[in-house]
Amino acid sequence: MNWQEEDKKYVWHPFTQAKTEKQPLVITHAIDATLIAEDGKTYLDCNSSWWVNVHGHGNEHIADALQDQFHQIDHTIFAGVTHPKAIELAKRVSEKLPNNLNKVFFSDNGSTAVEVALKMSIQYWHNRNEKKQRILAIEGAYHGDTFGAMSVGERGYFNTPFEPYFFHVDFLPFPMESNEDEVLKNAEKLLETKEFSTLILEPLVQGSAGMKMYSVHFLNKLVKLAKLHETIVIFDEVMTAWGRTGKLFAFEHSSVEPDIICLSKGLTGGILPLGLTVAKQWIYDGFLSDEKSKALLHGHSFTGNPMACAAACASMDIFAQEETWDKIHAISKNNLEFSKQISSHKSVAESRSLGTILAIELNTSKNERYFSGIRDVAYNYFLENGLLIRPLGNIIFINPPYCLTNEEQKRIFAVIVSFLNQLNEY
Ligand SMILES: Cc1ncc(COP(=O)(O)O)c(C=O)c1O
Repeated sequence: MNWQEEDKKYVWHPFTQAKTEKQPLVITHAIDATLIAEDGKTYLDCNSSWWVNVHGHGNEHIADALQDQFHQIDHTIFAGVTHPKAIELAKRVSEKLPNNLNKVFFSDNGSTAVEVALKMSIQYWHNRNEKKQRILAIEGAYHGDTFGAMSVGERGYFNTPFEPYFFHVDFLPFPMESNEDEVLKNAEKLLETKEFSTLILEPLVQGSAGMKMYSVHFLNKLVKLAKLHETIVIFDEVMTAWGRTGKLFAFEHSSVEPDIICLSKGLTGGILPLGLTVAKQWIYDGFLSDEKSKALLHGHSFTGNPMACAAACASMDIFAQEETWDKIHAISKNNLEFSKQISSHKSVAESRSLGTILAIELNTSKNERYFSGIRDVAYNYFLENGLLIRPLGNIIFINPPYCLTNEEQKRIFAVIVSFLNQLNEY
């Protein structure tokens, strides 16, 4: 079978200009941190298969859990029905979150987890007849590709055709060391109007913006301001949760907590799609009424899918093992050291790391950012050298599965260095 030919005939790929992009790589097998192509060539899965695969491929513990679950119950409607795995998962996730963050709504992915969070927040104020109709977000944000998620995300190259259909959102400039205080002042002015229902942000790291990082100080201050002015705070931890930043949740680096948190990606170990939106008890209570219309009238066919819940519970078993955290800490330490070492390289504009995320921003002569020509050059170089790294424009980054060995991580660093060394002007 010529898979590429068949693919071209029948498949429409995400984020892909099919006219100009080369044929996709055909991956037929995967084990641990390695992807295996149809021709037998191997690639290290440096971005965890779109940032989801936290424990590596083919994890036996997750496989056993899926097998067991399949023989118990594969799927059921989740309105008017419940099942033990969803209850177990909801209980285990809320026990890992701060007190009172304990009402778990199930959906299918990161975007839907965000949609649900927005709807919870908007409807909470609506149910109370309070006219809080403004939403605050941060420039550069990415919260997903559904309309609500796009509305609270960065406007521009990805979503121009849809912009007339977005709802109004106020955006704060991205907080950098040089403007943090000014952004906070700006935020205070907006929030003290008490018109804001919602503040939504990716805590500490904006993923799709290019793994852009900001300070714990800013996060603490902004969230405190929002809470002072009765604004519901949503943390979109779709990318940052499950050990990515070196802690189970990114907000654990700070002294603040969200009112609603969105989880997905690594939640199931990256094996099956699942989204969770976890809200505080008082938000849930705001939907209790004798009027049915005050309920959260939202759901998906696969809400609470037992197979996905089983994978997520099995993934949480793995997070309960000390060995997993030893691996996370080892990857984080190596990242930090490499980030410092590479920061002075002539081809590097900036390098940064937080936990298992390492990002290297390349110097480019043109101000092209996402559509930088260097992106394709880097992508192809890494493929030729056995790494699957999908740069975000001129930013190359790794966020690997935690089963990555020390030797594999060193190999990734060596290929990155050789790439930087042979770079000319772009
Ligand atoms: C922070 C954040 N939120 C939401 C999403 C959307 O998740 P999904 O692609 O599963 O819809 C992403 C995806 O990259 C993300 O990084």
